[in-house]
Amino acid sequence: MQKNKINIAIDGYSSCGKSTMAKQLAKEIGYMYIDSGAMYRAVSLYALRNGWMDNHSLDEDALRRQIPGIRITFRTNDKGVQETYLNGENVEKDIRTLEVSNGASRVSTLGFVRRELVRQQQELGKQKGVVMDGRDIGTVVFPDAELKLFLTAPPEVRAQRRFAEMQEKGDHSATYEDVLANVKERDLRDTTRAESPLRKAPDAIELDNSHVNIQEQFQWAVDMFHKTIQQY
Ligand code: DC
Repeated sequence: MQKNKINIAIDGYSSCGKSTMAKQLAKEIGYMYIDSGAMYRAVSLYALRNGWMDNHSLDEDALRRQIPGIRITFRTNDKGVQETYLNGENVEKDIRTLEVSNGASRVSTLGFVRRELVRQQQELGKQKGVVMDGRDIGTVVFPDAELKLFLTAPPEVRAQRRFAEMQEKGDHSATYEDVLANVKERDLRDTTRAESPLRKAPDAIELDNSHVNIQEQFQWAVDMFHKTIQQY
């Protein structure tokens, strides 16, 4: 049993398997897992439901006014799976649609949204012992994180995985080409936005997981954790 806990930042492109790895690692080492993407998704859902966002427009002023009233929390269900709550309502399913994904990528470009969510994320990490995944965790949220991991894979590999996942769930709402276009669009937005674009922190350890299975990737993360924690 280690005396000291550390924070672990996991960043990378969309549909890269970050959350799978982050969840497995947190469970293995008894840390709290925080899905920062779910927080941007919850803001997106909120904006869509209130009619402030559609395919063509986004009412930034309305969102800016209401952002202090958006409370995002996480609770673990009876199967041990963490779920996202928006102002007390379980929105875990609702935030996983393609429409909400696209909206999340858009609201995440707004400085006032990022500032509020980063503030909440830093608060959650104050006591250490957190595994958080996202885009700016190692660069902005926890620049001092003791361990930073960065996952990559080409867009085609990620789109294929996401598409297979949707087929498995019986979701036939999009073709592979739709999913690939969505992945590329999000990559572009994530890496080119002015506010905290997706970047690998200089001290992050990178893994291209194109030819790495989930078990191998998990083992890699556990090894990195054990190597790092020895120093604390
Ligand atoms: O990881 P995800 O697909 O659930 O993230 C949803 C969107 O939120 C994605 O387009 C990028 C954005 N995001 C972000 O800008 N910063 C984070 N820390 C996490 C997600």
